[in-house]
Amino acid sequence: KKVPVITIDGPSGSGKGTICQLLAARLGYHYLDSGALYRLLALAAKRHGVAFDNVESLAVLAAHMDISFRTQDNGDAPRVMLEGEDVSSLIRTESVGTEASLVAAFPEVRTALLQRQRAFAVMPGLVADGRDMGTVVFTDADAKIFLTASPEERAERRYNQLIDKGESVSLAALVERVRKRDERDMNRKVSPMVPAANAILLDSTGMSIDEVLQKVVDHVTANG
Ligand code: C5P
Repeated sequence: KKVPVITIDGPSGSGKGTICQLLAARLGYHYLDSGALYRLLALAAKRHGVAFDNVESLAVLAAHMDISFRTQDNGDAPRVMLEGEDVSSLIRTESVGTEASLVAAFPEVRTALLQRQRAFAVMPGLVADGRDMGTVVFTDADAKIFLTASPEERAERRYNQLIDKGESVSLAALVERVRKRDERDMNRKVSPMVPAANAILLDSTGMSIDEVLQKVVDHVTANG
Protein backbone atom coordinates (compact mmCIF):
# COMPACT_ATOMS: atom_id res chain seq x y z
CA LYS A 1 0.00 0.00 0.00
CA LYS A 2 1.24 3.44 -0.93
CA VAL A 3 2.35 5.73 1.90
CA PRO A 4 0.30 8.94 1.92
CA VAL A 5 2.49 12.01 1.39
CA ILE A 6 1.56 15.70 1.68
CA THR A 7 4.08 18.25 0.45
CA ILE A 8 4.28 21.87 1.53
CA ASP A 9 6.82 23.95 -0.36
CA GLY A 10 7.56 27.65 -0.30
CA PRO A 11 10.02 30.32 0.80
CA SER A 12 11.33 30.77 4.33
CA GLY A 13 9.02 32.70 6.60
CA SER A 14 5.90 31.53 4.79
CA GLY A 15 4.91 29.59 7.91
CA LYS A 16 5.64 26.19 6.34
CA GLY A 17 7.47 24.78 9.34
CA THR A 18 4.74 25.59 11.83
CA ILE A 19 1.94 24.48 9.51
CA CYS A 20 3.68 21.22 8.59
CA GLN A 21 4.26 20.30 12.23
CA LEU A 22 0.68 21.09 13.21
CA LEU A 23 -0.65 19.15 10.23
CA ALA A 24 1.59 16.15 10.94
CA ALA A 25 0.46 16.16 14.59
CA ARG A 26 -3.21 16.38 13.57
CA LEU A 27 -2.92 13.49 11.09
CA GLY A 28 -0.51 11.45 13.20
CA TYR A 29 1.97 11.52 10.28
CA HIS A 30 5.75 11.79 10.28
CA TYR A 31 7.35 15.14 9.49
CA LEU A 32 10.32 15.84 7.22
CA ASP A 33 12.05 19.20 7.57
CA SER A 34 14.17 18.99 4.41
CA GLY A 35 15.64 22.46 4.97
CA ALA A 36 17.24 21.07 8.14
CA LEU A 37 19.16 18.58 5.99
CA TYR A 38 20.73 21.39 3.95
CA ARG A 39 21.42 23.33 7.15
CA LEU A 40 23.01 20.22 8.72
CA LEU A 41 25.18 19.79 5.65
CA ALA A 42 26.39 23.40 5.88
CA LEU A 43 27.22 22.94 9.56
CA ALA A 44 28.90 19.56 9.00
CA ALA A 45 30.97 21.04 6.17
CA LYS A 46 32.20 23.84 8.41
CA ARG A 47 33.10 21.39 11.18
CA HIS A 48 34.93 19.04 8.83
CA GLY A 49 36.75 21.86 7.07
CA VAL A 50 34.99 21.22 3.75
CA ALA A 51 34.83 24.39 1.65
CA PHE A 52 31.39 25.47 0.38
CA ASP A 53 32.60 25.13 -3.22
CA ASN A 54 34.13 21.65 -2.83
CA VAL A 55 31.23 19.89 -4.54
CA GLU A 56 32.66 16.37 -4.43
CA SER A 57 33.36 16.41 -0.70
CA LEU A 58 30.03 18.11 -0.01
CA ALA A 59 28.21 15.31 -1.86
CA VAL A 60 30.07 12.62 0.09
CA LEU A 61 29.27 14.42 3.34
CA ALA A 62 25.61 14.78 2.30
CA ALA A 63 25.33 11.04 1.68
CA HIS A 64 27.14 9.92 4.83
CA MET A 65 26.76 12.57 7.55
CA ASP A 66 25.48 11.10 10.80
CA ILE A 67 22.19 12.89 11.44
CA SER A 68 18.88 12.14 13.11
CA PHE A 69 15.67 13.80 14.22
CA ARG A 70 14.47 13.21 17.74
CA THR A 71 10.69 13.52 18.03
CA GLN A 72 9.48 15.31 21.18
CA ASP A 73 6.58 13.80 23.15
CA ASN A 74 5.30 17.25 24.19
CA GLY A 75 4.61 18.26 20.58
CA ASP A 76 7.63 20.58 20.36
CA ALA A 77 9.68 20.66 17.15
CA PRO A 78 11.89 17.58 16.75
CA ARG A 79 15.46 18.00 18.01
CA VAL A 80 18.01 17.90 15.22
CA MET A 81 21.10 15.81 15.90
CA LEU A 82 24.50 15.88 14.18
CA GLU A 83 26.95 13.15 15.21
CA GLY A 84 24.99 12.65 18.41
CA GLU A 85 24.98 16.33 19.36
CA ASP A 86 21.82 18.43 19.58
CA VAL A 87 22.41 21.21 17.03
CA SER A 88 18.78 22.40 16.80
CA SER A 89 19.61 26.00 17.72
CA LEU A 90 22.98 26.08 15.96
CA ILE A 91 21.45 25.32 12.55
CA ARG A 92 18.75 28.03 12.87
CA THR A 93 21.02 31.06 12.55
CA GLU A 94 20.81 33.39 9.57
CA SER A 95 24.36 32.56 8.51
CA VAL A 96 23.71 28.81 8.40
CA GLY A 97 20.53 29.54 6.40
CA THR A 98 22.54 31.43 3.82
CA GLU A 99 25.22 28.71 3.73
CA ALA A 100 22.52 26.05 3.34
CA SER A 101 21.20 27.82 0.27
CA LEU A 102 24.74 27.92 -1.18
CA VAL A 103 25.34 24.16 -0.83
CA ALA A 104 21.75 23.44 -1.94
CA ALA A 105 22.49 24.92 -5.37
CA PHE A 106 24.76 21.97 -6.31
CA PRO A 107 22.97 19.15 -8.19
CA GLU A 108 25.41 16.58 -6.75
CA VAL A 109 24.42 17.60 -3.24
CA ARG A 110 20.70 17.40 -4.04
CA THR A 111 21.10 13.95 -5.59
CA ALA A 112 23.00 12.73 -2.55
CA LEU A 113 20.14 13.82 -0.29
CA LEU A 114 17.33 12.42 -2.44
CA GLN A 115 17.22 8.89 -1.04
CA ARG A 116 17.68 10.12 2.51
CA GLN A 117 14.62 12.31 2.11
CA ARG A 118 12.50 9.58 0.50
CA ALA A 119 13.31 7.25 3.40
CA PHE A 120 11.05 9.43 5.58
CA ALA A 121 7.95 8.29 3.69
CA VAL A 122 6.78 5.49 5.97
CA MET A 123 3.38 4.54 7.35
CA PRO A 124 1.09 6.02 8.49
CA GLY A 125 2.16 8.94 6.27
CA LEU A 126 4.43 11.94 5.81
CA VAL A 127 4.19 15.71 5.75
CA ALA A 128 7.23 17.00 3.82
CA ASP A 129 8.41 20.59 4.17
CA GLY A 130 10.82 22.27 1.72
CA ARG A 131 11.35 23.87 -1.68
CA ASP A 132 11.15 20.91 -4.06
CA MET A 133 9.11 18.33 -2.15
CA GLY A 134 6.26 18.40 -4.67
CA THR A 135 8.35 18.99 -7.79
CA VAL A 136 11.25 16.54 -7.30
CA VAL A 137 11.36 14.46 -4.13
CA PHE A 138 7.74 13.31 -3.83
CA THR A 139 6.31 13.89 -7.29
CA ASP A 140 3.40 11.49 -6.72
CA ALA A 141 2.32 13.10 -3.42
CA ASP A 142 -1.39 12.95 -2.59
CA ALA A 143 -1.69 16.68 -1.91
CA LYS A 144 0.72 19.49 -2.77
CA ILE A 145 0.63 22.97 -1.33
CA PHE A 146 2.79 25.99 -2.18
CA LEU A 147 2.72 28.40 0.72
CA THR A 148 3.86 32.00 0.34
CA ALA A 149 3.57 35.38 2.02
CA SER A 150 4.82 38.83 1.06
CA PRO A 151 8.61 39.32 1.52
CA GLU A 152 7.91 42.07 4.08
CA GLU A 153 5.71 39.86 6.21
CA ARG A 154 8.13 36.93 5.95
CA ALA A 155 11.03 39.13 7.01
CA GLU A 156 8.96 40.45 9.90
CA ARG A 157 8.07 36.92 11.12
CA ARG A 158 11.74 35.97 10.91
CA TYR A 159 12.67 39.18 12.72
CA ASN A 160 10.36 38.33 15.62
CA GLN A 161 11.75 34.78 15.82
CA LEU A 162 15.32 36.06 15.96
CA ILE A 163 14.54 38.73 18.53
CA ASP A 164 12.84 36.05 20.67
CA LYS A 165 16.06 34.05 20.48
CA GLY A 166 18.10 37.06 21.53
CA GLU A 167 19.76 37.64 18.16
CA SER A 168 20.12 41.29 17.24
CA VAL A 169 19.16 42.05 13.65
CA SER A 170 17.78 44.96 11.67
CA LEU A 171 14.47 44.47 9.89
CA ALA A 172 15.70 46.25 6.76
CA ALA A 173 18.72 43.96 6.51
CA LEU A 174 16.44 40.93 6.93
CA VAL A 175 14.08 42.02 4.13
CA GLU A 176 17.14 42.30 1.91
CA ARG A 177 18.45 38.87 2.94
CA VAL A 178 15.04 37.24 2.47
CA ARG A 179 14.91 38.65 -1.08
CA LYS A 180 18.44 37.45 -1.87
CA ARG A 181 17.84 33.93 -0.58
CA ASP A 182 14.53 33.69 -2.50
CA GLU A 183 16.24 34.85 -5.64
CA ARG A 184 18.96 32.21 -5.31
CA ASP A 185 16.42 29.48 -4.49
CA MET A 186 14.11 30.45 -7.38
CA ASN A 187 16.75 30.97 -10.05
CA ARG A 188 19.08 28.01 -9.51
CA LYS A 189 19.26 25.50 -12.36
CA VAL A 190 18.41 22.38 -10.35
CA SER A 191 15.21 22.03 -8.36
CA PRO A 192 14.38 25.73 -8.31
CA MET A 193 11.72 26.78 -5.85
CA VAL A 194 8.60 26.76 -8.02
CA PRO A 195 5.09 25.46 -7.33
CA ALA A 196 4.43 21.96 -8.67
CA ALA A 197 2.02 21.98 -11.61
CA ASN A 198 -0.64 20.30 -9.48
CA ALA A 199 -0.01 22.28 -6.28
CA ILE A 200 -2.51 24.70 -4.78
CA LEU A 201 -1.13 28.17 -4.06
CA LEU A 202 -1.81 29.60 -0.64
CA ASP A 203 -0.79 33.15 0.28
CA SER A 204 -0.65 33.44 4.07
CA THR A 205 -0.11 37.23 4.16
CA GLY A 206 -2.33 38.64 6.89
CA MET A 207 -3.65 35.20 7.90
CA SER A 208 -3.35 33.62 11.34
CA ILE A 209 -1.76 30.18 11.81
CA ASP A 210 -5.19 28.70 12.54
CA GLU A 211 -6.64 30.13 9.33
CA VAL A 212 -3.78 28.77 7.23
CA LEU A 213 -3.96 25.36 8.91
CA GLN A 214 -7.71 25.19 8.25
CA LYS A 215 -7.21 25.93 4.53
CA VAL A 216 -4.51 23.28 4.31
CA VAL A 217 -6.63 20.70 6.15
CA ASP A 218 -9.58 21.47 3.83
CA HIS A 219 -7.41 20.87 0.79
CA VAL A 220 -5.86 17.69 2.16
CA THR A 221 -9.27 16.31 3.14
CA ALA A 222 -10.65 17.08 -0.31
CA ASN A 223 -7.74 15.13 -1.83
CA GLY A 224 -7.71 12.24 0.65
O1 C5P B 1 13.68 26.00 4.88
P1 C5P B 1 15.03 26.45 5.34
O2 C5P B 1 15.15 27.93 5.49
O3 C5P B 1 15.48 25.72 6.58
O4 C5P B 1 16.03 26.02 4.17
C1 C5P B 1 17.35 26.47 4.12
C2 C5P B 1 17.84 26.46 2.69
O5 C5P B 1 17.94 25.11 2.22
C3 C5P B 1 16.91 27.14 1.67
O6 C5P B 1 17.18 28.51 1.53
C4 C5P B 1 17.18 26.38 0.39
O7 C5P B 1 18.27 26.94 -0.32
C5 C5P B 1 17.59 25.01 0.86
N1 C5P B 1 16.53 24.03 0.67
C6 C5P B 1 16.41 23.45 -0.58
N2 C5P B 1 15.49 22.47 -0.78
C7 C5P B 1 14.68 22.08 0.20
C8 C5P B 1 14.75 22.68 1.47
C9 C5P B 1 15.70 23.67 1.67
O8 C5P B 1 17.13 23.80 -1.49
N3 C5P B 1 13.81 21.10 -0.05
